[in-house]
Amino acid sequence: MESFSHLVKVSLPNYLSDLPIPNSIGGWFKLGVKDWLSLIPPTAILAGVGYMSYYTFCPNAKKNIKTSINYKIKKDSKKVVDTVDVEDIAEKAVFCRCWKSENWPYCDGSHGRHNEATCDNIGPLIITKNK
Ligand code: FES
Repeated sequence: MESFSHLVKVSLPNYLSDLPIPNSIGGWFKLGVKDWLSLIPPTAILAGVGYMSYYTFCPNAKKNIKTSINYKIKKDSKKVVDTVDVEDIAEKAVFCRCWKSENWPYCDGSHGRHNEATCDNIGPLIITKNK
């Protein structure tokens, strides 16, 4: 605990006070190569902390990730389209919406593993016939 205290109270303030941060905007233009190089590590740390904070606390951050959802079903087709005749459905049919089923287009329960691995909440589409 003493080493952490020394780090926070002595080492870190000394390190920060030694950084070549100018007192004016014009001072940035007077920095040398060595000064700029010494600013890279703290800038990288600040950028990393900022990115991790944004990614952790901003709900919209994860929405911007573009990924494929279909890893295996009819990958040779430009678009996966399936047709099921309603008359062929006896009482109910359970269709996959997670793209992980081995029995495509029907659900085989693979969404459970997907949800557990990704903290997602995907489930099937269930179609029932009225009697
Ligand atoms: S296996 Fe995909 S929704 Fe159930």
